[in-house]
Amino acid sequence: MNQTTMLQASSIDELIAQLADVGYQAERRLATALFLSLKLQRPLLLEGEPGVGKTELAKALAQVLNKQLIRLQCYDGMEQREALYEWNYAAQLLHMRAAHDQSTSDAIEREVYQEKYLIRRPLLQALQAPAPGAVLLIDEVDRADEPFEAFLLEYLGEYQISIPELGTIKAQTTPVTILTSNRTRDLNDAIKRRCLYHWMEYPEHERELAIVRAKVPQASIDLAQQVATFVGRVRSQNNLHTFERSPAIAETVEWARALVALDTHSLNRQVIEDTAGILFKQREDVDAFIPLIEELLAPEAT
Ligand SMILES: Nc1ncnc2c1ncn2[C@@H]1O[C@H](COP(=O)(O)OP(=O)(O)OP(=O)(O)O)[C@@H](O)[C@H]1O
Ligand SMILES: [Mg+2]
Repeated sequence: MNQTTMLQASSIDELIAQLADVGYQAERRLATALFLSLKLQRPLLLEGEPGVGKTELAKALAQVLNKQLIRLQCYDGMEQREALYEWNYAAQLLHMRAAHDQSTSDAIEREVYQEKYLIRRPLLQALQAPAPGAVLLIDEVDRADEPFEAFLLEYLGEYQISIPELGTIKAQTTPVTILTSNRTRDLNDAIKRRCLYHWMEYPEHERELAIVRAKVPQASIDLAQQVATFVGRVRSQNNLHTFERSPAIAETVEWARALVALDTHSLNRQVIEDTAGILFKQREDVDAFIPLIEELLAPEAT
């Protein structure tokens, strides 16, 4: 089609390599979903626990495609004017005051609805992004309310919006769109149908090790290995519902950094206990974790 297509990976392996080059480790199923979303020009909906790399993927993709990242952070009660556009009333008012004596009221009305008084919010910015277009991240869409979801569906269907005073604005280049959700509520089926979907799991051992190695190069291979193994074991407690919330990738990385800062060369019960607040952010989880440390450190021995 154009130059952007050329920047796009021609295979899933190439996409995995390109993402790795910018520091993002993608597993194959995720890369496949992403590859297809680029090829088919469909939005990609990523769901998963907090901290598994949903937002980071959009950032990495923008780098790979050399496109501008435009992010809409959703929240309860978000209004269209915060997502789409609004008029700069203060500037319009000033204009009206200044023009009051010279112009007719009809002329003033035309003048105040010019593009220069339009404040563009992310969804409009994404439509008007100059070549090669944008990566549009609609982050935590589950936090927005249902009317917004209905509106979003329309937006994703046409990639155009209509501004009564200005007319219809259509995307110059369809934005590469990524939606994320922590699944605090189920999304509308119609949204899911419109998107390609991928559920993001906690990483398997090798990938988590690669992430720690890449993000915390100061940690020795040995320590990185121990960290990834230990966190993996902590998460396997998930089946027993021991913890409210398992440590995610962000916590693993932060923990490895903390251990390096504490000059730890090898994991031991004391240092794990002292740093438990990095792995777990809830008091009940810390309390449940501490008596288990010994067993998690050496599961064979018990
Ligand atoms: N695949 C990955 N490769 C490299 N780093 C990763 C990867 N996944 C996660 N990370 C690291 O984990 C951190 C947290 O990831 P991110 O913020 O993308 O999670 P999230 O899924 O968006 O979480 P939330 O739902 O809380 O917003 C990132 O800043 C990054 O350092
Ligand atoms: Mg996020």
